[in-house]
Amino acid sequence: MTIGIDKIGFATSQYVLQMKDLAQARNQEPEKFSQGLMLDALSITPVTDDIISLATDAAASILDQEDLATIDMVILATESSVDQSKAGAVYVHQLLGIQPFARAIEMKEACYAATAGLDYAKLHIEKHPKSRVLVIASDIAKYGINSSGEPTQGAGAVAMLVTAEPRILSFNDDNLAQTRDIYDFWRPNYSSTPFVDGMFSTKQYLDCLKTTWSEYQKRQETDLSSFDAFCFHLPFPKLALKGLNKIMDKSLEDSVKTRLQDNFDHSIQYSRLVGNIYTGSLYLGLLSLLENSTTLKAGDKIGFFSYGSGAVCEIFSANLVEGYEKMLHKDRLDDLNQRQVISVEQYEQLFYEDITLDDEGNTDFNSYQTGAFYLESIQGHKRIYKGKMK
Ligand code: HMG
Repeated sequence: MTIGIDKIGFATSQYVLQMKDLAQARNQEPEKFSQGLMLDALSITPVTDDIISLATDAAASILDQEDLATIDMVILATESSVDQSKAGAVYVHQLLGIQPFARAIEMKEACYAATAGLDYAKLHIEKHPKSRVLVIASDIAKYGINSSGEPTQGAGAVAMLVTAEPRILSFNDDNLAQTRDIYDFWRPNYSSTPFVDGMFSTKQYLDCLKTTWSEYQKRQETDLSSFDAFCFHLPFPKLALKGLNKIMDKSLEDSVKTRLQDNFDHSIQYSRLVGNIYTGSLYLGLLSLLENSTTLKAGDKIGFFSYGSGAVCEIFSANLVEGYEKMLHKDRLDDLNQRQVISVEQYEQLFYEDITLDDEGNTDFNSYQTGAFYLESIQGHKRIYKGKMK
């Protein structure tokens, strides 16, 4: 039995900030962002779009009535949760109308959590082959205004339906994780933006990659030549490019290097326009690769490097399934180009709008552009979402 990703979908906010505008406002050369970070635009959320609305939109874009009647677990991976107790997956389960006898949980370990979610889904299906698990990675990456991380913000959700005999890709049994207790990026409960040791974090990302890759190669008795593409966690694409160069062995044939580089370029196309979406960014890279590569074919092997600050990382691989291209959406770049471009002033107002509650815990929001699902109000400290499946 094979287990893997049967469907994959994505949602982001309807507002976009162009990096060239941010560069001008922050007195930076535009090339620092476009070449130095390899970012062209960032998705910006209004207060009515949060990890729950984005997650629900991403899932609604791929699920049909049969899926809703058969999914028996919903895993929402996030580090920008809206509640310390109630799992965001519970809201998503209700908003989508998934059958009641399902488990709904939230998972956290910075940008790594979605990978743990996929691992759990795989174990569950190994035991219950008819099960269908919805794994959603949803985050809003928000750093402080004028901070070093500001140009690497973003927002979005990637939803993946994990099943037996999947129609997109099947996981191999080769996962290798590494954990190290470090403070490279963290957000204590009392802070709405993270503390970041930026340069240290990039060194840790690259060292985790190097050491895990070296151990993975030993254990799997393999090297990069057996891979057709490699997807990386994408805090900003330039760091992933450094990662690719780090593991690209000089002795590899030129054709292998070209294949990996070309596919890498396709894997960063969406992130260049969306920014960091934390735990979903590795899977947005996968989606971008699958929807834009012109050379990938059934049977090809894709490597994955998942990294979450704190830190936990994992390397694993998967193979493309015959007919995978039929399960994809080819107009996504057009969709991204439909977002409303906003000025730096509008971005600062939208992204940093405070939620102010009255004494009873109520508030209504201004209306903003969102996807099909949105946060309408808070009543008695309860979040009220609106929207329905098409
Ligand atoms: P910075 O100020 O952009 O750093 O901060 P910089 O001055 O080194 O410039 C960046 C690059 O732009 C450099 O390229 C410059 O040379 C280049 P490099 O030398 O590295 O190849 N540059 C130019 N290029 C062309 N034309 C120019 C020009 N000027 C400069 N005119 C930093 C970088 C990473 C510190 C910052 O972006 C940051 O704090 N980011 C947030 C933290 C982060 O993303 N860390 C990544 C690893 S940790 C991780 O991935 C986990 C995370 O996703 C969170 C989670 O797990 O939950 C963040």
